[in-house]
Amino acid sequence: MSLSIVILAAGKGTRMRSDLPKVLQPLAHKPLLGYVIDASMSFKPKELVVVYGYGGDLVKKTFPSPHIQWVEQKEQLGTGHAVQQAAPLIKDEGNTLILYGDVPLIDQKTIERLVIKGQKNLAVLTYSKKDPKGYGRIVRKDDRIQKIVEEKDCDESQKNIKEINTGIMCAPNHLLKNWLKRLTNQNVQKEYYLTDIVGLSIEDNIEVLSESADNEVSITGINSKSELANMERDYQLMTAKTLMDQGVTIIDPSRIDIRGEVTAGKDVTIDVGCIFEGKVVLGNHVKVAAYSHIKDSIIGDHSSIEPYSHIDESKVGSHCRIGPFARLRPGTKLQSHVHIGNFVEIKNSEINDHTNINHLSYVGDSLVGKSVNIGAGTITCNYDGANKHPTKIEDDVFIGSNTALVAPVKIGKGATIGAGSTITKDAPPGDLTVARSKQTSISGWTKPTKNKET
Ligand code: UD1
Ligand code: CA
Repeated sequence: MSLSIVILAAGKGTRMRSDLPKVLQPLAHKPLLGYVIDASMSFKPKELVVVYGYGGDLVKKTFPSPHIQWVEQKEQLGTGHAVQQAAPLIKDEGNTLILYGDVPLIDQKTIERLVIKGQKNLAVLTYSKKDPKGYGRIVRKDDRIQKIVEEKDCDESQKNIKEINTGIMCAPNHLLKNWLKRLTNQNVQKEYYLTDIVGLSIEDNIEVLSESADNEVSITGINSKSELANMERDYQLMTAKTLMDQGVTIIDPSRIDIRGEVTAGKDVTIDVGCIFEGKVVLGNHVKVAAYSHIKDSIIGDHSSIEPYSHIDESKVGSHCRIGPFARLRPGTKLQSHVHIGNFVEIKNSEINDHTNINHLSYVGDSLVGKSVNIGAGTITCNYDGANKHPTKIEDDVFIGSNTALVAPVKIGKGATIGAGSTITKDAPPGDLTVARSKQTSISGWTKPTKNKET
């Protein structure tokens, strides 16, 4: 069987009230059309045609895949007209599945069943909706589909029909191409309705089959920001459920946001308000405390991320403790048993086993050895205003509080740096290095007095 897929994505989406075309509006950080394209790819179609219109170049640029053929629908004259634009790219043999660019969460199994039914017949994906308002209604006679009537063309009794057209259809190519040629725009909206191919199929004595969707979210289209927000919650709940099914403890599945992909080991716990972006890997027994934000990072076994921590493009080893209020910026690599405490920022640095940076520090472009203690308020001055320079801190070093390490600089193994030092030259191993003016006391010093008001 050879399958072609046509995705209709030319609509402007006026109700979004946005400069961004509707199909590029993000659901969990991914454009709506991206879901439909990815789902389509999984069917390995012979052709994948996207009919675009509004915001054309931007839509095309967002999906540079060589597997996609783009067809422009200059004027949006209806769903039938949209498919007509794609028809020249569709071979005569095989069948075609029609999807909508704004119906992102389609269910693969359901579509597979529809595609099987659409090998010799027109097959329509339908759904029984409590409130069918706005949708095309499926009109049946003796259980068999006769036609689809758009809401605006419905008479009073047709308006009571609950079974709706989801818009998703599949048909043999030679029949579809023939029907498309016969469409007219004689209806209330003066549009070329794709749904009219149902009537044409009946005219040709070819039975119209239907498949029904199992759940509403899989056929729901997005037209407005509030529908987008509703779907975001549905989607997040589905994602949370998948993780919980794998054994992850999620304290409140309605308060988690996964904008990408989270892979988790055993006995992982995620507290409320956490956001995950890109690809995040959590090892076994990892704890992520409330309101943490983790992006494109790996967290090793038994590590705990304390509340309000931000971790971006970083690798955290096993048995580490990060935060609360810590920030790991891109290029951070922590080995095992590392403690990073509150108000500590690490950037592009490697920190080795059992090292502690517990309070109020900035460590950038640094290589820090094992069992180092970096005191509160330590800053690596890695930037001279023009260039960045490295800092090297060897094993077993103790850096006293409020030290400035002016890079490039190296602190030798086992060295101690006195609190408040500004280190501009390499410090030798083993020694105590202090770089600050000596404390002096001036006896008999009198405090300034306030000037008399004149
Ligand atoms: C369509 C169906 C209706 C169904 C509903 C499901 C027709 C005539 N009606 O109605 O039976 O219940 O979808 O949501 O098919 N599009 C184009 N070019 C166009 C018009 C639309 O690409 O000229 C695309 C849109 O971008 C969208 C999809 O087709 O992805 C559906 O368009 P929309 O205007 O929402 O169709 P409805 O009138 O709601
Ligand atoms: Ca619609």
